[in-house]
Amino acid sequence: MRQLEGTKCSFLLCLGMSIICSVIYLKTRIPTEPKPLETPGCRPFAAECKSFLPSLETGVEWYRHDCQVESYILNSHMQCSNLTRDLHFITRPLSREEEDYPLAFIVTVHKELELFVRLLRAIYMPQNVYCIHVDAKAPWEYQAAVRKIVSCFENTFVSSRSETVTYAGFSRLQADVNCMRDLAKSNKGWKKVVNLCGQDFPVKSNLELVRYMQSKEWRDRNMTPGVKQPASMRHRTELQHREIIGSHVAVRGFKQKKGPPPHNLQMYFGTAYYALTRAFVDFVLKSQIAHDFLEWSKDTFSPDEHYWVTLNHIKEAPGSHIDGGWEGDIRAIKWRDQEGGSHNGCKGHYVRDICIYGVEDLPWIINRNNMFANKFESTSFPEALDCLEQWHRNKVLNQSLVPIEASWLLATQRNSSYFNSSAGA
Ligand SMILES: *[C@@H]1O[C@H](CO)[C@@H](O)[C@H](O)[C@H]1NC(C)=O
Ligand SMILES: *[C@@H]1O[C@H](CO)[C@@H](O)[C@H](O)[C@H]1NC(C)=O
Ligand SMILES: *[C@@H]1O[C@H](CO)[C@@H](O)[C@H](O)[C@H]1NC(C)=O
Ligand SMILES: *[C@@H]1O[C@H](CO)[C@@H](O)[C@H](O)[C@H]1NC(C)=O
Repeated sequence: MRQLEGTKCSFLLCLGMSIICSVIYLKTRIPTEPKPLETPGCRPFAAECKSFLPSLETGVEWYRHDCQVESYILNSHMQCSNLTRDLHFITRPLSREEEDYPLAFIVTVHKELELFVRLLRAIYMPQNVYCIHVDAKAPWEYQAAVRKIVSCFENTFVSSRSETVTYAGFSRLQADVNCMRDLAKSNKGWKKVVNLCGQDFPVKSNLELVRYMQSKEWRDRNMTPGVKQPASMRHRTELQHREIIGSHVAVRGFKQKKGPPPHNLQMYFGTAYYALTRAFVDFVLKSQIAHDFLEWSKDTFSPDEHYWVTLNHIKEAPGSHIDGGWEGDIRAIKWRDQEGGSHNGCKGHYVRDICIYGVEDLPWIINRNNMFANKFESTSFPEALDCLEQWHRNKVLNQSLVPIEASWLLATQRNSSYFNSSAGA
C-alpha cells in the first residue's frame, strides 16, 4: 500500500538518464583486452556481499553476467526465445514437488522496469501463473514494455482490467480483485495466490514457498496477518472517504459517518499482503457476504488492509483462520517505529517510515527468512538487490533436482586476475 507513493521522478526522465549513463559508461569502460565475457557495465558485488556469495577457491570471485536489463528490453528487435535466455529465466520446473503445487502471483506495478523484470525472473517458474496489474496511469512505454515481456510466457499475463491506483484507495484493492477474477479462470491448477508490488523481492525460493504453504500450520489455510480493528484505526471505516483518482484519499464532507459493515461483520485490521487458497478466492468472487463487504468498503480508507483479514475471520470462508493474529511470515519490512524492537535500524534509508534496504540490511533479511522482503530501489543502494538476487538464485539452483542450464546463471565465478589487467574495470 504505502509503497505506491514512491518517488515522483518521471519514468521517462529516469529512463532517458539511465540510457545516456549506460552509453557513456559503456563507452568509457570497455576494456580493450582481455575481453571479459561479461558486460563490462555491471556493478561489481559489494564487499559486504562476500559472506553471502562464498567462492569455492581463493582468487575467484562472482561476476554478474549482464545487467543492462532495461535497455535490453527496450531494444525492439528482441525475440522471446532470446529474451528468456538472455534475461536468465528458469524454463523448467526444478522439482516434482514444485510442479505438483503451482502458485499464482499477483504483481502490481507502476514504475521501475528493471526492478519488475528482476522480481519476475526471481519468482518465475513455468508451472506457476502470474497476473501483472499495470497501473493505468503508468506511461505507455512502460505498459508496452511490460506487455512485451509478459507476452513471452504462456503462464504470465497482464490483468484484463487495470485501475488507476491511488495510495490507500479502494483502487488498490480493486486491482487485486481484477487479477483474482482472471486467475480464477486460469486452467493452471494453482493452489495458493500471493500478491506483490514492484519493490518486493523474494527471500524464500519457490521450493521453500511451496513447503511453507503446505506446512502443517498453513496447508489449506489462508495467511492474512491482522487483529481485531484497534480503536486507532476505526476512523478508516467509520467515516466516509473519497478517492481523488491517482492522487489521494480524503474524508468526505464534514466527517460524514458510515453505516456498520454488512452481515454484522467484525472488523479486522492487518496487512495488504496475503497467501490465499484457491477456494477462498472463489468464495471472495462468488459469496454475497464478500460482495456486499467489497461494496461497503468502497468509501473506506485503505480497504486492502481490512478486506482480506476480515473475511478470513468468518466461519463460512474456506481456509479461514478464526482466531488468527499476526502470524504468517509474509514480508520482512523495517518500519521506522519498530527500530530497537524487531530490528536495529535501517542501513539504507527510510522513505515514508519504511526502510529502503542497503546491503548491510541483508543479514537481517536473510535471518528472518520471510517469504519476501520490502522494499528495494534500483537507484538507491542497488548493491543490496544485486546481492540478494544472486544469493537467492544460488539457493534456487542449488535446490534444483534437474540439471542446471547455463542460461539460468546470473553470475559466475571467475579468476579475479583475469579482470585486473583491464584498466581497473
Ligand atoms: C537471438 O539469438 C541468436 C543466437 O544468439 C542470434 O543469432 C540472433 O541474432 C538473436 N536474435 C535477435 C533478434 O537478437
Ligand atoms: C548447496 O546446499 C548445500 C546444503 O545446504 C550446501 O552444503 C552446499 O554448500 C550448497 N552448494 C552450493 C554450491 O552453494
Ligand atoms: C588465477 O589466475 C592466476 C594467474 O593467471 C593463476 O595463477 C591461478 O591458478 C588462477 N586461479 C584459478 C582458481 O584459476
Ligand atoms: C586482482 O585483484 C584482486 C582484488 O581486487 C586481488 O586480490 C588480486 O591479487 C589481484 N590479482 C592480480 C593478479 O593482480
